[in-house]
Amino acid sequence: MTDLKMKISGVMDLPDYEMDQFIEEAFFAKDVLLHHRGPGAEFTGWIDLPENYDRKEFSRIQKAAEKIRSDSQVLIVCGIGGSYLGAAAALDFLKGGMSNLKAEKEGGLQIFFAGNNMNPTYINDILDMTKGKDFSVNVISKSGTTMETSISFRIFRKELEERYGKEEAAKRIYATTDKEKGALKELADKEGYETFVVPDDIGGRYSVLTAVGLLPIAAAGCDIEQLMKGAQEMRELLLADEEEVTDAVAYAALRQELYEWEMQIEIFVNYDPDLRMFAEWLKQLFGESEGKDGYGIFPASLNFTSDLHSMGQMIQDGERNLFETIINIENTPRDITIPAFEEDFDGFQYLEEKPVSLLNQTAIVGTANAHIEGGVPQIYFAVPDRSEHSLGELFYFFEFACGISAYLEGVNPFNQPGVESYKKNIKELLSKYKN
Ligand code: PA5
Repeated sequence: MTDLKMKISGVMDLPDYEMDQFIEEAFFAKDVLLHHRGPGAEFTGWIDLPENYDRKEFSRIQKAAEKIRSDSQVLIVCGIGGSYLGAAAALDFLKGGMSNLKAEKEGGLQIFFAGNNMNPTYINDILDMTKGKDFSVNVISKSGTTMETSISFRIFRKELEERYGKEEAAKRIYATTDKEKGALKELADKEGYETFVVPDDIGGRYSVLTAVGLLPIAAAGCDIEQLMKGAQEMRELLLADEEEVTDAVAYAALRQELYEWEMQIEIFVNYDPDLRMFAEWLKQLFGESEGKDGYGIFPASLNFTSDLHSMGQMIQDGERNLFETIINIENTPRDITIPAFEEDFDGFQYLEEKPVSLLNQTAIVGTANAHIEGGVPQIYFAVPDRSEHSLGELFYFFEFACGISAYLEGVNPFNQPGVESYKKNIKELLSKYKN
């Protein structure tokens, strides 16, 4: 059973009747979502995915991951947006942001994400990481035509082919794309790459529990069965009782009520650098799902306590248009105590032998209380640990809550028409280089 828990504070002044009204509307939005009756319903395959995912493909993913771990020291994952952020979030959450350094030291697999920008220094730096090492590439693109992904894949494919020859290179390239159409699928079939599917009914930002996220996560040595189990259990909980005000319904209702109160910015806050990429995943999920038709809560993220020393003033005292959603992993697997010295040179001797986790947890309470006094409502999610199971719960929970929240707002959560404009402009500017 799930241990993910939500607490709310600093919203006590909200009149009850309004919240009731939002909850009622959230129930309606949930019903629309579950019965595939809303706009974009053809992209709601993620709802039942934890139950009905393709077991055969799942075991192919596990085998491919094993092969990558046995024949490579580096895996390059080319993808952007929904074809990148879920896996990046998972690897930091499960393995830690230092995992590549650890892997290098201990002889494990290093995983680098490319194709998420067009910066040549970044690409060169990753290319350098493959020098003197065996490597493989996982190229991920549902459409198969995303510029950042394609350009980086060209560069790493070339390097593979030059180093191993075409035939061996093909065995080191894994393509995650549409099941039958698109440029990447065509190339993969022609060259004989192993392919994995981004299902038709699942859009990029809801795809972390498909091969899009699962292959890199499994290649990192993480237990993807437990990840799916966590998602399955969260699904059961959220779908079990139609009348129950689950945390997903309450969170979606509260977000929209706060938005009505002109709190237009939601800050995803963490006190753990390994949750930074999870916040990036959340930003895409909510930003691309809700920012439409002139509406939408602006999702931001801050990493505390670091950002308290840069953005703390603004949060405490700036324009009152924001609320905070804190994600906190409550159990620390590795703690460390504060050493004592003979001389109390900095005034912190009274903390001798106290665990650093105590300070971090105290910072969470102290900061939340200060921000509540400053008029910043707080939503707090307690995550029991940094396991695959808990992460599966988290992914599913936020996808589900986001679907409800966007329907409450009255927009289609599953399209992204606005993303096309910048792509079109870049392509137009580049077209002068065509022969
Ligand atoms: O959520 C989305 O749909 C987007 O972020 C896409 O994932 C992103 O643009 C990459 O698209 P593709 O997988 O087609 O390369």
